[in-house]
Amino acid sequence: MTATYTQPKHEVKDLSLAPLGKQRIEWAGREMPVLRQIRDRFAAEKPLAGIRLVACCHVTTETANLAIALKAAGADAVLIASNPLSTQDDVAACLVAEYGIPVFAIKGEDAETYVRHVQVALDHRPNIIIDDGCDVVATLVKERQDQLSEIIGTTEETTTGIVRLRAMFKDGVLTFPAINVNDADTKHFFDNRYGTGQSTLDGIIRATNILLAGKNVVVAGYGWCGKGTALRARGLGANVIVTEIDPTKAIEAVMDGFRVMPMSEAAPQGDLFITVTGNKHVIRSEHFDVMKDGAIVCNSGHFDIEIDLKALGAKAKEVRTVRNFTEEYRLQNGKSVIVLGEGRLVNLAAAEGHPSAVMDMSFANQALGCEYLVKNKGKLEPGIHSIPVEVDKQIARLKLQAMGIYIDNLTPDQIEYMNSWTSGT
Ligand code: ADE
Repeated sequence: MTATYTQPKHEVKDLSLAPLGKQRIEWAGREMPVLRQIRDRFAAEKPLAGIRLVACCHVTTETANLAIALKAAGADAVLIASNPLSTQDDVAACLVAEYGIPVFAIKGEDAETYVRHVQVALDHRPNIIIDDGCDVVATLVKERQDQLSEIIGTTEETTTGIVRLRAMFKDGVLTFPAINVNDADTKHFFDNRYGTGQSTLDGIIRATNILLAGKNVVVAGYGWCGKGTALRARGLGANVIVTEIDPTKAIEAVMDGFRVMPMSEAAPQGDLFITVTGNKHVIRSEHFDVMKDGAIVCNSGHFDIEIDLKALGAKAKEVRTVRNFTEEYRLQNGKSVIVLGEGRLVNLAAAEGHPSAVMDMSFANQALGCEYLVKNKGKLEPGIHSIPVEVDKQIARLKLQAMGIYIDNLTPDQIEYMNSWTSGT
């Protein structure tokens, strides 16, 4: 493809990585048929023409396909990273060099750069924000109130971001509509469960090359991400222990066949610990004290707060890198604890994030969520809105069609039965 635009402003690692990025973006695109159909329609209809858009996402091959669809829709889009360690530098380079999309993201950027990129994104004066974890929206609300009148709305990708948006709404500071992409059925049933399940184990295996069969794997949290992670760990032959704070989810884990116990009991038993709770300090000082020598800890929740690395650091005589994304903390008690991906999302730090086939549906929701916001500009109340059910079902239908799977339709008789209350025993 020959570039026909002036190269946009950007901050990426190395533009010469663009050809590799292009190859990988196209490879991912093969597994994203739903997003492709949306992109083709967007290219014809231009539903986002004239819209300034900021996307704060993990800069991956899948996000690139979303960004290309948004550009095809006519959006003036800027992309920044939603995590300092998740950027794929070849993808960032390609989006700038081949597609003319401004990207501000470098794998391993420090916290200061990450925060600065959020400011750069807000300098774009967005009408729509696609957020993954709510950092852009939170910064907008805290620091850029003069820009609030220009906002049409936001879409949010993650459970963590939705928790933050709900807290903002409760505090009366969410003054525009937010589309809850996470809660669409075609998002969390697949992305959170099968996406996190597979990519988390992929990250652990790429970082360590350990055998999971026969290992005691402790999964902290039994939400959709925890369910997928536990299921896939069991599939590889691990003995899975689940820890939970929610009694209903704990029963679910028990009835799914897992051992359930508090972290204090699991800590001395685990060979590998995976946190997916969305909460802070799920593994902390007293747990490190009783872990086996060589226990591995990692996180697949959105923020790097689930493992108390400060407490672990305080117990360490030495910290050394033993493999890529793998650090050994040699403790004063003579034992070692291994930390993967600096306690950040291990699936994106040490692997490539969720596979494209699930991100296809997640990002179809994102693209259609943006279109919905524009179509309903000025009509949606401030607060959190679901993706319309018909949009969710349409994404599922398109996905099935692309997979070559057909399902039954209700007969007229069945429709009548489902709409009546008169017939019973
Ligand atoms: N979140 C989890 N996996 C992802 C991926 N592959 N691309 C973008 N965001 C993600």
